[in-house]
This record gives sequence, structure tokens and C-alpha cells, in this order.
Amino acid sequence: MRYRILFLIIMSVMMGLILINCTSNTSSEPTGDSTANPDSLNQSIERGKYLATKVVICLDCHSERDYKYFAGPIKDGTEGMGGEVFDEKIAGVPGKLYARNITPDPETGIGTWTDDEIFTAITRGISKNGDTLFPLMPYINYNRMAKQDIMDIIAYLRTLKPIKHKVPERKLFVPLHMVYPPSLQASVDKNVKPPISDKIKYGEYLVRSAACFDCHTPMENGKSGQPFSGGYTFHLPTFTVTSANITPDKETGIGAWTEEMFLQKFIQYREKSAYLYDPGKLNSIMPWAFFSQMDDYDLKAIYAYLRTLPPVSKKIEKHPTEVAAR
Ligand code: HEC
Ligand code: HEC
Repeated sequence: MRYRILFLIIMSVMMGLILINCTSNTSSEPTGDSTANPDSLNQSIERGKYLATKVVICLDCHSERDYKYFAGPIKDGTEGMGGEVFDEKIAGVPGKLYARNITPDPETGIGTWTDDEIFTAITRGISKNGDTLFPLMPYINYNRMAKQDIMDIIAYLRTLKPIKHKVPERKLFVPLHMVYPPSLQASVDKNVKPPISDKIKYGEYLVRSAACFDCHTPMENGKSGQPFSGGYTFHLPTFTVTSANITPDKETGIGAWTEEMFLQKFIQYREKSAYLYDPGKLNSIMPWAFFSQMDDYDLKAIYAYLRTLPPVSKKIEKHPTEVAAR
């Protein structure tokens, strides 16, 4: 997720108005050969489902999360219907954003959008009506993803149950061009997914697509601090949580974790019983229920990439006030 809002504001003020004209280039027209025959269409949908629900987790933001349970799993039957709120307290947004309805409902969702329109929204943050989306929708990350992965996600979105659900309009206290991200590629055509045999590079691709950086990097004086060192605090209505240091520092990060420990930390949440309980104030926004569903190999690749980061020594209290109260 893009929580680097202040940073973006500063960057874009510095960059003046050079920013905007990424909108004029629509050369990234998707061609999805995967739709050529039913078998490859099914494969495309399967892959898209894997990405959208387990790795890139579009459906984490675009469905209703239920924080009565640990790590807010989504409520059944709300897949893709939008409505989750992101504001100043939750995510540093100068105003109020609502995840939009991305089900195929023709009136309130994206049922009438072409593949090309959906593609542009995902990879460049431009909605069908031409509005620029707020960069909390992680299109800066998706702008670096391989085209086929995005096409697969679109193929999967088309299979969601259409849900009629009108999402309120966003309210922003600053003009959006002030937060428009400066570093989008005009075309994603040259993006490649590294071969999975290149574990570190492939892990890096997954980490970027899953927006781990966005939650696990602190904001310091309006700028992104040391990557992946944690310390970003989320204030949700019923709990407060600070992201963990996931650099390989042995004492304060995850440097002492073996690959097996890392894997277990995630896959314990493949069992519903592991998260279907009310943790009260010790809740988390880390999407454990989603990420735990990733293939073992992909989780190991993520681990391999995280091992290559510079270790940062920084102790994090994930639940500062609650710990102090004990
Ligand atoms: C961190 C939460 C988050 C994630 C993850 C996320 N989105 Fe979004 N998305 C949003 C928000 C919030 C908006 C609305 C932004 C605004 O109002 O400016 C949005 C807007 C959109 C829109 C524009 C819809 C419209 O009506 O204009 C599309 C399409 C979309 N997202 C698809 C996706 C897909 C596909 C993925 C996964 C690849 C994804 N999103 C992942 C939060 C998210
Ligand atoms: C929506 C924000 C968010 C996203 C996205 C996110 N995290 Fe987290 N993560 C957190 C928070 C907050 C915590 C601390 C609370 C907890 O342990 O659940 C955390 C905790 C962790 C921990 C536990 C560390 C420890 O010391 O116990 C690991 C490992 C981790 N995240 C890895 C990742 C990886 C890898 C990704 C990307 C695939 C990722 N996170 C994406 C918010 C996020």
C-alpha cells in the first residue's frame, strides 16, 4: 500500500508539474493471448486468482475486512465490492478514500470497462473517467509488474460475482496532483517477471507486487525512512499496530529466523482456526490470512530476497500501549 503520502507531496512539489503527461500514452494496450482458447483462459484465471487473493491481494483492500478476528480476514460474500475506508489515522491519507467496487456489476462496479481501461487503472492509476486514483492504490508497484500477470488478474476479476454496491465518493483535502507519484513508467511492456529459478530476483518481484515495502517502511519527517525497518503505525478504530522490522538484523529484525521459521510464521494461518478469534487490541493489519495461502516456494523466495537487505538495528514495539499496560 502507498502510505508514503507526505513524501509524495514533497516530491511532487519539487517536481513541479512535470508529472502529469504519463496519461497521454496508452501504448500499453493489453493483448492477452491467453484468451485465445478455453484452456489457456482457465489457466489465466487460475493464475490471476492466485495473485489477486494471495500475493498482490487486491481483494484484501477491495472487500470488507472483519477486524472482529485476527488480522481482519474478509467477510464472505463481499469479494471485490469495495467500501473499505482509508483516512488520515489508518493510512496517512489527507482525506477519506474508499476502495472501489471492482466486481463486474455494470452500474456500480467495472462491468462495462474494457480490459484496456482496467489495465490502465491498475498500472497507471487512471480511472475510466480520466480521474487519477490516489496512490494508496498501489499502482506504483503494479506499474513494474509483468503484463501477463496483470492480464491474468483482469481475467480473474471478470469471474467475480457481480455485487451491486455503490461506494461513496472520495474526499481529499489536497488537490490530487500534489500527491501524484513522480516515477511511473509510461508503458509496462518491457517489464519481465524474473524466472522463478532466480530465487532472489523472483522474491524481489513478489515483494514489490505485494507492497511489503509500503507497510514496512517508516515515515520520518515526511520521507520514507530505512526500507523494511518497520515502525509505521496504523490507527484502526479498534486497535493500533506498528509494522515490524523485517530486515535481517539479528536482534531487532528477522535475521535470526531460519527459512523454516519464516515459512511456519505464515503457513500457521492457513488454518482458519488460527485467526478466527478476537484478539482485541492485539490485532494486526498485516494480511496474514491472505499471504499464508501463497505457495511455499514463493514464501521462500520472499525470504531469500529479504535476507539480501541491509540489516537495520531498530527495535519495534508492535503494540506499544498494550505492552506497557501489562
Ligand atoms: C492498499 C489497498 C489496495 C490494494 C492492495 C488494491 N487497491 Fe485498487 N483501489 C484502492 C483504493 C483506495 C482505490 C480508490 C482510489 C481513489 O479513490 O482515488 C482503488 C481503486 C481501484 C480501481 C479503480 C476503480 C474505479 O472505479 O475507478 C481499480 C480498477 C482497482 N483499484 C483495482 C485493483 C486491483 C486489480 C488490485 C490488485 C492488483 C488492487 N486494486 C489493489 C485500494 C487498493
Ligand atoms: C497492510 C500492511 C502490511 C503489509 C502489506 C505487509 N505487512 Fe508485514 N506486518 C505488518 C504489521 C503491522 C506487522 C506487525 C504486527 C504483526 O506481527 O502482525 C507485520 C508483521 C510482519 C512480520 C512479523 C515480524 C515479526 O517480527 O514478528 C513479517 C515476517 C512480515 N510482516 C512480513 C511481510 C511481508 C514479507 C510482506 C509482503 C509479502 C508484508 N509483511 C506485508 C503490516 C503489513
